[in-house]
Amino acid sequence: MADKKARLTVDGLDDVIELPVYSGTEGPDVIDVRPLTGQGLFTYDPGFVSTAACESKITYIDGGKGVLLHGGYPIEQLAENSDYLEVCYLLLNGELPTPEQKEEFVSTVKRHTMIHEQMNHFFNGFRRDAHPMAIMVAVVGALSAFYHDSLDIDNAHHREVCAYRLIAKMPTLAAMCYKYSIGMPFQYPRNDLNYAENFLHMMFGNPCEEYKPNPVLAKAMDKIFLLHADHEQNASTSTVRLAGSSGANPFACIASGVAALWGPAHGGANEAVLTMLEEIGDEANIPDFIERAKDPEDSFRLMGFGHRVYRNFDPRAKVMKQTCDEVLAELGIENDPMLKIAKRLEQIALEDEYFVKRKLYPNVDFYSGIILKAIGIPTNMFTVIFALSRTIGWISHWSEFHSSPNKIGRPRQLYTGPSKRDYKK
Ligand code: SDX
Repeated sequence: MADKKARLTVDGLDDVIELPVYSGTEGPDVIDVRPLTGQGLFTYDPGFVSTAACESKITYIDGGKGVLLHGGYPIEQLAENSDYLEVCYLLLNGELPTPEQKEEFVSTVKRHTMIHEQMNHFFNGFRRDAHPMAIMVAVVGALSAFYHDSLDIDNAHHREVCAYRLIAKMPTLAAMCYKYSIGMPFQYPRNDLNYAENFLHMMFGNPCEEYKPNPVLAKAMDKIFLLHADHEQNASTSTVRLAGSSGANPFACIASGVAALWGPAHGGANEAVLTMLEEIGDEANIPDFIERAKDPEDSFRLMGFGHRVYRNFDPRAKVMKQTCDEVLAELGIENDPMLKIAKRLEQIALEDEYFVKRKLYPNVDFYSGIILKAIGIPTNMFTVIFALSRTIGWISHWSEFHSSPNKIGRPRQLYTGPSKRDYKK
């Protein structure tokens, strides 16, 4: 219930408009603007910079302090003490699992990692050089053609089964995109490996010998999955919620999230960071690129920098930077030229007035690409891995949306087109 009120006066309206104000457990209060429609008014907020589109209990971000909580737990503590599947359980259920619950959850996910053999045929329709995100949009949506037994969105058990299936199958589909691109046979999942080891096996294993995952790389892979798991109402998650509000099936909704994530302003940034670092090529070229990023006439932006919400360090970037150092040390490539350029670029940008004034800091994508490249993953697979990781966030928000009474999302507009006019023959 509202414990406070906002009062709005509008030129031309006699009455003061009273609007309820709600407080959450954390974060800014929200003004309920729904009564405005009755006064013939809309709010106007392109890009939803100041709009709370829903109520949620899953994740909280404090952009000013650089805080990210999943179920109340700071991302730094989860990255240090938890793992991806445990965070999946937390995001879906709101609580960390007991040891028994975790064992059951992990075992259930393991039993859903295979895909229907007919799904393999979808890949053959693509060119070998198709961008793997184009394939992922297609095959994730195609899952809805195979699971008619769990598409009742109002059935909590069906929603839970869909979540298991999506968490389990995304690594299998992602690895298939890579194998297809290099003309290698698809690798079946292995139940003797953990989630991250299994993904690396499906990516880099082959039928001729047993794949032995490097434990340091597998741990880094799991941490990358964990750090990308959820991020409240970002563009792709909001897309999934909006698609879900029409009653579309969960696989189609997740496919819409994959599509929205692909853009370089969002999940495509990790691929764009590596492309940018390769384009910079040498530390001597950094000042020119910094000037281009600051030039309002130049569309170039510093990929991996800035964020709609964070006006401080992205807490995920800090963990990612530490993981990057660990992986490169393990592989004996501490002097990776890309890492040197990235660190110098970060140092210069953080001292530059343009970036300081606008509170532009490295975000989650700035270092992740360097780790993924070091693990041997091709650049065009980076956003696929982001989609794999974020699937739990998407399906958790989709499920939360359908767990209580809801309405189809249908924003309005400020119309500035022609007024009514008659058709003249
Ligand atoms: C993700 O929302 C999420 O939570 C997303 C995400 C998640 O986990 O889901 O965190 C994942 O998408 C991270 C962001 C990855 N994208 C990039 O790294 C691409 C580069 N960043 C920018 O495109 C930009 O910072 C955005 C898109 C991330 C945020 O854009 P906003 O909030 O619309 O900010 P803005 O464009 O209004 O920028 C404010 C000012 C502008 O300058 P002025 O008009 O005030 O002069 O800052 C400038 C911008 O030009 N600016 C940059 C910049 N980012 C913003 N200038 C140079 N380089 C940049 N990277």
